[in-house]
Amino acid sequence: MSRDELATARAWLAEATRPVSFSGAGLSAESGVPTFRDAATGGLWSAFDPMRLASPEGFAAEPDLVLAWYAWRRQAVARAEPNAAHRALAARRDVRHVTQNVDDLLERAGARDVLHLHGTIGDDRCHGGCGHREPVDCGAEPAQRPCPRCGAPLRPAVVWFGEALPGDVWRAAETACRDADLLLVIGTSAVVHPAAGLIDVAGAAGARIVVVNPDASAADGVADLVVRGRAGDVVPGMLGERK
Ligand code: OAD
Repeated sequence: MSRDELATARAWLAEATRPVSFSGAGLSAESGVPTFRDAATGGLWSAFDPMRLASPEGFAAEPDLVLAWYAWRRQAVARAEPNAAHRALAARRDVRHVTQNVDDLLERAGARDVLHLHGTIGDDRCHGGCGHREPVDCGAEPAQRPCPRCGAPLRPAVVWFGEALPGDVWRAAETACRDADLLLVIGTSAVVHPAAGLIDVAGAAGARIVVVNPDASAADGVADLVVRGRAGDVVPGMLGERK
């Protein structure tokens, strides 16, 4: 990261009246939550099969394995604390937050109205689709439980491969990105669609696109500015105080 890049990002953010953050797993990496794809570590999907652990087919075939995997990830999230980037984002009250992350670190840093495109790991929901949803104890042992409303299995309230994104969240995120005058793209490989398509939505509507990532990402090509660095090192310096 050069001083010029940081100064430019800071000036653009100061000018922005409708800034939106679009984040991925890299935002929470410095809090100790593993990423999925990473040049340095390989990420979770280099060690684990996503179709086995994060798909309706995987859950049907091996529910205990899937629940154990989510219990492990829930414990990692419960142990984690918000980092400097979460805190800086939450402190800028005019930033709207769209995230692919299922953790609650932005909320724990004080952010309001976070749009979780891929759901929230701290809740279970009915796999049968009756709409029941409940918070879980992230430290508890995994166990298959029936939905108290309809008897279908409960499962983590996250979006699995092959599943649709929650429609209300998607529509709100699309509106926020279309209205944005600056999109701060933090810690995402930007390869998972439809979520990553929101970067193009914002760009096509005229927003400046600023990417923060220590490595190359699929968003670099549409960015007006790419800042190479870790979120916790870079984001606080970009975001001035503004209520
Ligand atoms: P990925 O794991 O695909 O990408 C993480 C990105 O974070 C990479 O581009 C890293 O270079 C970058 N990164 C690593 N450390 C960083 C740091 N300290 N600061 C900033 N950036 C850093 O994560 P996502 O793009 O979020 O979906 O992945 C998208 C979706 O793929 C996830 O939501 C999940 C996964 O499969 C579902 O579970 C549906």
